[in-house]
Amino acid sequence: MITAIVGANWGDEGKGKITDTFAAKSDLVIRFQGGSNAGHTILNQHGRFALHQLPSGIFYPKVLNLIANGCALNVDYLIKEIAEVKKQNVDFSLYVSEKVQILLPIHVLLDTYQEEYLKEEKFGSTKSGIGPFFADKYAKAGIQLWQLYEDPQLKQKAVHLLKKINTLFVHLYHKPAYPLEMLLEDLERYKKAMAFYRVNSDALLRDAIKEHKKILLEGQLGALKDSDHGIYPYVTSSSTLAGYASVGAGVPPYLIQNIIAVTKAYSSAVGEGPFVSEIFGEEAEELRKRGGDRGEYGATTGRPRRVGWFDAVATRQGAFLQGATALAVTCLDVLSYLKEIPMCTGYQLDGQVTDEFGVTSALYKAKPVWQVFEGWQSDIKGITDYQKLPPQAKTYLKAIEAFCKVPVRYISTGPRREDLIEVDSLGEI
Ligand code: GDP
Ligand code: IMO
Ligand code: MG
Repeated sequence: MITAIVGANWGDEGKGKITDTFAAKSDLVIRFQGGSNAGHTILNQHGRFALHQLPSGIFYPKVLNLIANGCALNVDYLIKEIAEVKKQNVDFSLYVSEKVQILLPIHVLLDTYQEEYLKEEKFGSTKSGIGPFFADKYAKAGIQLWQLYEDPQLKQKAVHLLKKINTLFVHLYHKPAYPLEMLLEDLERYKKAMAFYRVNSDALLRDAIKEHKKILLEGQLGALKDSDHGIYPYVTSSSTLAGYASVGAGVPPYLIQNIIAVTKAYSSAVGEGPFVSEIFGEEAEELRKRGGDRGEYGATTGRPRRVGWFDAVATRQGAFLQGATALAVTCLDVLSYLKEIPMCTGYQLDGQVTDEFGVTSALYKAKPVWQVFEGWQSDIKGITDYQKLPPQAKTYLKAIEAFCKVPVRYISTGPRREDLIEVDSLGEI
């Protein structure tokens, strides 16, 4: 059986926490897209971690972890991340598909230069090289892991790629050219570093499926930052959807039967782009300070996250795009301080109220229509029994379920692995 854990919003919904919890009952955890732009925070008996490329199944010795074809592999970052995690006494099994593409330092530089060059028109990327990497991948100019070992034309390909990229560095961005020797050194270093982890993931996955292993697919970012369906161009450059998980990992689509879309009980987003339910000033500062496990600050870049109230219009669309069979609502405990909790249940647009999540220009114009819920104003952190939640919290969750039209099956009441409620049903309204 295959389960996908994916984001219903703009990323940072708590996918890492939910994956870490679910990994206990899994055999294989796979990252199928994205790269070191991810920051998945996990708090468990080993400590606190912000995983970037490592799948969130690494905390269970029996679980195999795979970085699959659809990812952007930054070898230097991965090696650093492995060393950091091992320093905290976590030992794990990791495989890297030999067909994964390699993200190079020149991609990171290109991303950085592009953002600098665009000034106020920047996208607010994580400067991890993701955009340029995927551009080269789809232009067939990229390098897959196996090529480091077996491609006799590797050097020639590196020369071509570098010529193209150096043209941009020098003539568009007025930066120094990247030396060929350095790129060749990069590739040599990656070859050595990845030999131990390289795997034929086709065979690995075929066997796992034949043996009815439990597979978990861990998404990066969320539906609203998907390159086809999100708030283009303020999106990432790979598909963040469970539908793509089949492609990025290499498993039959019809086997992905559980799709858990993770959403926060409020909203947060990093980078540029429209955000209808965003809040500002003191109200935002308070939520930012109380949010997540240490406030709402980017796990990868440290940037303060933009925050807002729960956007039911966006989340319904995000859950739909994901094909969600269940919702996991995280950070419910964060809202405990509020007397009243606003929820955005419609968009005021051109004199009308709509519940359509439209194109980016419409989202910029849309004003939130608020429905206000009574707060519970009591500490619910760490509650694991649904019946122990205050009635106001249950009402709030039922409203999320009713708007999104997907059953809320998991409720996270704190950042730690064990702070989780699982329910078959929220009960009657
Ligand atoms: P991801 O990228 O989707 O894995 O999410 P991030 O880890 O980037 O951001 C989620 C933040 O919320 C992190 O700081 C988590 O530790 C935190 N978090 C997750 N679930 C809960 C929860 O139920 N309550 C609280 N207070 N924090 C949570
Ligand atoms: P996780 O997996 C939040 C944002 C960037 C930018 C846009 C594109 O932790 O949810 P990119 O570097 O991918 O070209 O940036 O997406 N972004 C994230 N925001 N969480 C992430 O990952 C993100 N990865 C990228 O800020 O707006
Ligand atoms: Mg994150």
